[in-house]
Amino acid sequence: MTARIIDGKAEAAVLRGKIAAAVAQLKAAHGVTPGLAVVLVGQNPASEVYVKSKSKAVVEAGMRPFDHKLPETTSETDLLALIAKLNADSAVNGVLVQLPLPPQIDSAKVIAAIDPNKDVDGFHPVNVGRLSSGLPSLVPCTPFGCVLLAKTVHSSLAGMEAVVVGRSNIVGKPVAQLLLAENATVTIAHSRTKDLPSVCRRADILVAAIGKPEMVQPDWIKPGATVIDVGINRVAGEGGKSKIVGDVSANAAQVAGVLTPVPGGVGPMTIACLILNTLRAACMQRGLPEPKI
Ligand code: GUN
Repeated sequence: MTARIIDGKAEAAVLRGKIAAAVAQLKAAHGVTPGLAVVLVGQNPASEVYVKSKSKAVVEAGMRPFDHKLPETTSETDLLALIAKLNADSAVNGVLVQLPLPPQIDSAKVIAAIDPNKDVDGFHPVNVGRLSSGLPSLVPCTPFGCVLLAKTVHSSLAGMEAVVVGRSNIVGKPVAQLLLAENATVTIAHSRTKDLPSVCRRADILVAAIGKPEMVQPDWIKPGATVIDVGINRVAGEGGKSKIVGDVSANAAQVAGVLTPVPGGVGPMTIACLILNTLRAACMQRGLPEPKI
């Protein structure tokens, strides 16, 4: 068997096109242009790449970008003051502080300072609580993208065995909540799970969010399973060049039914979901109905 590869770039382009149309309609009908503030502290090379592609997507969707680049030495007090300003600015509908932050800044404090209604990352404890209580909320973008990709393959996830490998606040825990909300039977596995390969082999849907290059081996996968690879790992490639690989072995395609590639799978969907969250936040803040995407 050779797995079908889901083209995340193409799926994301379709989604972004629909969002841009909804933004144009929002502007025409209500004079509202959604705005997203992206805050980068320091010069982490991976973060700089992510922030650039986020801002580009904002502009392409017809939204207003508010980019803030702060030095590595920024104090927690100064960052909290900027967040307070963005919270109070009615032109800013979404606030995203790129993680990781330098060691002098407490990330939990920063996340908690963002207005939950502008928390387009869905990391604020209020949104985490709302998601786990089954209430409407702003949902973390990578998990949102994973579930949208799974739903391009399966019209319903109800009753499916889903195994999530990884328990981070950014991906593992929220993707498990979203899969549960889709009525899947969900297992969260992690570094202390006993016999991880056999737990993974139970999965109809396997989400790999471990952060270890090509850790998931072909014999960990149930034949025909849908495998969503969230990993973005830079490793040494041929000729001294580096390359990006996922958390799933390249040979998994021989066993899986459907596979998301790295790069070009979950990554582009994450950005599209951020733009969607910004549109949703703008509508919520104006008391307008959820955009139909
Ligand atoms: N760093 C890595 N992933 C993310 C994300 O989804 N949001 C933010 N804010 N920072 C990140």
